[in-house]
Order: sequence, then structure tokens, then C-alpha cells
Amino acid sequence: MGVREALEARRSVRGFLETPVPQATLQGIFEAAQRAPSWCNIQPWRVWVTSGAATERLREALVSAASAEAPSPEFAWPQDYPEPYGQHRRECGKALYSAMGVARTDTAGRQDAWLRNYKAFDAPHVAMVAIDRRFDFYAGLDLGCWLQSLMLAAIEAGVSTCSAASLATHPAAVRSVLAIPEGLGLVLGVAMGYEDAAVAANACRTRRSALSDNITFVGE
Ligand SMILES: Cc1cc2nc3c(=O)[nH]c(=O)nc-3n(C[C@H](O)[C@H](O)[C@H](O)COP(=O)(O)O)c2cc1C
Repeated sequence: MGVREALEARRSVRGFLETPVPQATLQGIFEAAQRAPSWCNIQPWRVWVTSGAATERLREALVSAASAEAPSPEFAWPQDYPEPYGQHRRECGKALYSAMGVARTDTAGRQDAWLRNYKAFDAPHVAMVAIDRRFDFYAGLDLGCWLQSLMLAAIEAGVSTCSAASLATHPAAVRSVLAIPEGLGLVLGVAMGYEDAAVAANACRTRRSALSDNITFVGE
């Protein structure tokens, strides 16, 4: 699979088959992502990848925490989405909820849909991603380079993903399952596995802006 093809094939998948990904395939995906660039090659990503019973323990801890407490991420979430970002965000929510058949006014349906995050969308594997708390913006860029590398390597191996910051919003629950040192802050989780095409949410497609909204080519 070429890079262009992988870029076009990757999308967030929010419903997975139970079938686990073979360990050798997982290893190959993470080995490929390990080639990601980073500032001075510091390679700041620290990642715990769950399978089997560990994924189930993580799911249970997250669902129970999310049903009982307010989210409290270790890295602050954006509070405000000024335009044009607000419009993109609304369109993204609309695309997902309409694929799932959840109406705008259906508060309970929206809540259930949101809780799917904490079940990691039934994925057989979750990669919980952390970073040294002493780092700031640029290490976040490093993490972004690694994350997209991971998702593209996964797609090439036939494995679907959903990056989910929601999976890091109940850090104590995650830390009760995984021995993540306190010096590392949780950033997000990546649900990984084989897509269940029968799940309605997987019909969601997002669009991208015209190139001219983001990119300015400058000649002489
Ligand atoms: C850093 C990051 C955090 C995200 N967090 C969530 C999340 O918590 N829940 C979710 O359903 N999707 C999450 N997403 C997926 C985005 O909503 C998705 O990438 C975006 O809508 C574009 O759609 P696509 O991935 O299908 O191309 C996240 C994506 C990124 C890159």
C-alpha cells in the first residue's frame, strides 16, 4: 500500500470485531511507527498496549469511572472553538451522530454514544499514550508525528484505529490497570482492531476543507 493510499484509507473506526490482532502484527505496526521523527530524536511517546484480559480490565475501569465522575484530563482540553474551528467541530459531531442515527435532541442517545468511547468502541486492543509531564507543545508535535505513523502502519496491516482523547479523561482508572509512572501524563488512547462494518458509526465520513483554506503557495 502506498502512502497516499494509506492516507486516504485511514479513518476513525468506532466499532470493532472481537478478533484479536496477532501479536506479531501489532509488533510490526509499532515497529514501523517507531520510525517517526521527533525534535532532536527525543522519541517522547510512552505507550502501553493492551490485549485480552488487560483490555477488558481497562474497559471496565473506564466505564465505571465515566459513569461516576466528571472527566479530568491530565493535559487541558480546549475550552473554546472560535470560527472556523467551531464549524468544523459541529460538522464532525453531526456526521458521527447522523451515521449512528442519534438525533440532536436525543440527550440519552448522545450520552450512550459518548459512553462508547469508554468501552474503547469494543476494540480488542487499546494503546494508552503518555508523555513526560515536563514537556510542552513541541513534544506534542512529536506525539502527533508518531500517532499518524501508527495509524498509517496499522491501515497497511489491515488494522483500524480510533484515536480517542476521551480514553485519557479518567487517568486514575487507567492507572489502576496500567503501571504508568506518575511523571508521565496521559494524553490519549488509540482503539485498535479489525473493523466491524455492521456498526452504524462506521458509516461516518468526515470531509476536509479546500486546500486554499489551509495552505498558501507562494511563488516569486
Ligand atoms: C488527538 C485526537 C483525539 C481524538 N479524540 C477522539 C475521541 O475522544 N473520541 C472520538 O470518537 N474520536 C476522537 N478523535 C477522532 C476525530 O474525531 C477524527 O479524527 C476526526 O473527526 C476526523 O475523522 P477521521 O479520523 O475519520 O478522518 C480524535 C482524533 C485525534 C487526532
